[in-house]
Amino acid sequence: MRKKLIAGNWKMNGSQSFNSDWVKVIQGALSDLGMKHLPDTMVCVPSPYLSQMGALLQSCPIALGAQDVSAHPKGAYTGEVSLSMLEDLGAEGVIIGHSERRAYHFESDLTVAQKVKATMATKITPIVCFGETQEQRQSGQTQSVIAAQLKAVTDVLAPDFDRLVIAYEPVWAIGTGLTATPEQAQEVHAFIRAQLSAKTCHANALKILYGGSMNAQNAAALLSLPDVDGGLIGGASLVAQDFVKIIASAGV
Ligand code: 13P
Repeated sequence: MRKKLIAGNWKMNGSQSFNSDWVKVIQGALSDLGMKHLPDTMVCVPSPYLSQMGALLQSCPIALGAQDVSAHPKGAYTGEVSLSMLEDLGAEGVIIGHSERRAYHFESDLTVAQKVKATMATKITPIVCFGETQEQRQSGQTQSVIAAQLKAVTDVLAPDFDRLVIAYEPVWAIGTGLTATPEQAQEVHAFIRAQLSAKTCHANALKILYGGSMNAQNAAALLSLPDVDGGLIGGASLVAQDFVKIIASAGV
């Protein structure tokens, strides 16, 4: 059985005082919850706060993650952050190919694939994001868009998909309050798993997360779907109490 993963994506939010308050509230809420077994949990924070959050999370069962990484090992890439820097700071995961990076930083499928490949050569878990826009969904292109984004990554990784985590994040559901219905989410997740099955016999072991306006109210319904193995949560992960409610909805 696949263990669920609940990952927060803070995007460009946080401050040193916000971060320490968040961890304090999380610690209290998790101990009030009294769950013996938690799902896997992670919070992906802005790079300047990786060090502070790494230290704060020492006393908390939440892993540290980053929001992006360079495909290059080091050198003249102003503003970029390398995998070895993330390892140095204790990051256990990294989001790659978020739709905001594809849209605002023009990251191509090839760039995303190169970042995933570089990450797979380390111990860091890549959480690679795929999703269609509203227009693409309305014109019936959801599966072809997802298949093309997925193919770019699977082509460079085959046959080794071990540790790959996929996040299905319909662009129209991100930060809009419009969540995919359980039927829409399950349909795409099952499609992604079927595509992966054609490439690897381990497709049933790979986690596929849902992201897009997941919150404390709708998490349980989404997380109970057969092919939804967790969530990648933006806005609701900034509210510590809500993030803990989502963790609780995942069970184990
Ligand atoms: P929201 O949960 O704010 O819609 O963001 C989802 C997301 O983009 C997570 O990566």
